[in-house]
Amino acid sequence: MQQNERGQWGSRFGFLMAAAGSAVGLGNIWRFPYLAGKNGGSAFILIYIFFVVILGISVMLTEFAIGRRANSAAVGAYKSVDKRWTFAGFLGVLTAFLIMGYYPVVGGWSLAYIFKSASGLLAAPDAIEGGFGAFITGTTEPLIYVVLFMAINIFVVVKGVAGGIEKAAKILMPLLFTLLIVLIGKGLTLEGAGAGMDFLLKPDFSLVTGEVVLTAMGQAFLSLSLGMGAMITYGSYLKKDENMPSNAVFVAGLDTLVALMAGVAIFPALFAFGFEPAAGPGLVFVVVPTVFSKMGGIGVLLSVLFFTALFVAALTSTVSLVEVVTAYLIDEHGIDRRKAVISTSVAMSIFCVFSSLSLGGVLSPIPVFGVGMFDLLDLLTDKVFLASGGVFVTLFAGWFINKDDLKKELTNDGTLEFRLFDVWYNLVKYVIPVFVAAVAVAGMMAIEQKVVLLTGFIIIAVLAVFSKKL
Ligand code: PHE
Repeated sequence: MQQNERGQWGSRFGFLMAAAGSAVGLGNIWRFPYLAGKNGGSAFILIYIFFVVILGISVMLTEFAIGRRANSAAVGAYKSVDKRWTFAGFLGVLTAFLIMGYYPVVGGWSLAYIFKSASGLLAAPDAIEGGFGAFITGTTEPLIYVVLFMAINIFVVVKGVAGGIEKAAKILMPLLFTLLIVLIGKGLTLEGAGAGMDFLLKPDFSLVTGEVVLTAMGQAFLSLSLGMGAMITYGSYLKKDENMPSNAVFVAGLDTLVALMAGVAIFPALFAFGFEPAAGPGLVFVVVPTVFSKMGGIGVLLSVLFFTALFVAALTSTVSLVEVVTAYLIDEHGIDRRKAVISTSVAMSIFCVFSSLSLGGVLSPIPVFGVGMFDLLDLLTDKVFLASGGVFVTLFAGWFINKDDLKKELTNDGTLEFRLFDVWYNLVKYVIPVFVAAVAVAGMMAIEQKVVLLTGFIIIAVLAVFSKKL
């Protein structure tokens, strides 16, 4: 494909909002608080922040640089340097598919809870928990919302890079931020909120196991949209005069800030009303409306706003996931954007149907390796595929791209100062690949669903062997 036929971001702000929109998602607002709640609170959070600083920023910068340098999406970016690496690009496309096989299900829940909040959900607080369970284990209702969610997603991605994704993110991201601030203000002024802040601020490292560390690392990759080519793809639409190091710091910083804000919005209120922090994936959907239900009329409004924020966050992330596959089809196969988006999304929706039904609908009796489709995809993607993608992208940059080329790319041909270049380079070349692999292996030993993770690694090996033929 010719350079001028590819999309490009309209402005720096637009790119930042789109990249931050990809990063900030259900990972921050739905997954981060429930993982923190389950894994002991602040110790988990500190380990998570450590991963963001040591791995996250550097890997993000690597992806931006690779994408912009190649001016093509993940598969093309790898292939143009060394054909043997094409599989790493395909792994990204596959990962996008698999994340999109369960993530929109939760996106659908958030959409449903906007309507539910507005139509009497909060009027019967005692029924909220049971209602959530009944809703997600139902057959048709959650499916309607997944389909609706996917339809909105298609609408945005079909419009293209600057016209759809950038435009939507520019409006929706600031809205999300504002909503979280409102929620925090409300939560912190509740009586008994202090215990929630203690939970967030006083670490107890005795709860930290290999599994907790792996969970924190997987969460860092997922939350920052790393290890599967999303940031390579978004980087490929970047103009040559953008300051990539500062953009990476900004996006990673904002993503972490939003996750912490979600924690501060949820935990004080949760403790104030005497809930269990380890409630699991239902945390946000059960605790938040219950908390709001105790606040009278304003609670309904806040609940609607909260789920709108969650929906917005999910949408700007799914947009980037679909874009990874779409860009591949456009760049490598010259397929028309509209066709690429629609066919990709339909295929992903089919996965979602299975995931949703695996939670208790008609498919719940058919688990694979002891876990349903939803949990299977969740387990495989962040802990195996994204972590492996992170190892590959850093090895690739460190060992297969010329150091001077990287320096030129990151300093915009020497016009920009990037003082930490050598630190970044050594992290990427030596430290990160070894470190991520070590955490993944150690964590795998500690985890109950070893077979699932092992299968993931086998899939990657098969892909590496067969993609040579593609
Ligand atoms: N970062 C998104 C989130 O936190 C999820 C995501 C992963 C988006 C990978 C794009 C690519 O919700």
